[in-house]
Amino acid sequence: MDRTAKEIKSRARETIRELESPLRFLGEFAREPFTVGALWPSSTTLSREVVKCCDIRPGATVVELGPGTGAFTGLILQRLDGNGRLVAVEINSTNAGILRRRFPECEVIEGSAEQLPSHLKRRRADCIVSGLAWGSMLPRMQGLIMSAILKSLAPGGQFVAFAYAHAFWLPTSRQFRRRLLRHFKTVETTPIVWRNLPPAFVFRCVRE
Ligand SMILES: C[S@@+](CC[C@H](N)C(=O)[O-])C[C@H]1O[C@@H](n2cnc3c(N)ncnc32)[C@H](O)[C@@H]1O
Repeated sequence: MDRTAKEIKSRARETIRELESPLRFLGEFAREPFTVGALWPSSTTLSREVVKCCDIRPGATVVELGPGTGAFTGLILQRLDGNGRLVAVEINSTNAGILRRRFPECEVIEGSAEQLPSHLKRRRADCIVSGLAWGSMLPRMQGLIMSAILKSLAPGGQFVAFAYAHAFWLPTSRQFRRRLLRHFKTVETTPIVWRNLPPAFVFRCVRE
């Protein structure tokens, strides 16, 4: 095979790899729409905004809840730069498998976020990043996951979560916002990130 043919083949393989995660994600949404909560993974712009909101120090323990196929995961690992720990808790086994293959340095737990204290074996996290779709979650599950987050965060720890802008007025989204205001010392929001489908914004919260 000549050089041009080899180059074309390797570019085609790269393109297939890049498309694999979003297509699998879409397939999982079709199977479990309420759990997956989004048609498509977060865009690079939203992912950068989420990770920019995280105050990640060397040696930190970071938890990612609902990482999906890893839109935020690679950026968090870059920020840790080999000095710290990233634990990702994903309930969907297909997504968890993709994540393990893409990021072997990440501790991927196939399980549910409300079991976080036992997944962490009583260690506390310095920062918890949420990729969960809070607006499409039942209120009871919201409460269970929020109390697992509060038990697992170190004092002064950070919680960062995104929310879809169109769902802002849904009762479940308003309830999520009230929970944040009740339990965190500071709750800040970013402007809307329009380059995401659907547009979203980010909550940046700090624990007492
Ligand atoms: C809206 S998608 C976001 C995925 C990814 N963070 C992103 O932004 O592209 C939500 C993800 O959370 C996962 N998930 C839903 N409920 C969960 C739970 N209770 N525990 C852990 N993961 C959960 C879904 O399987 C899905 O991968």
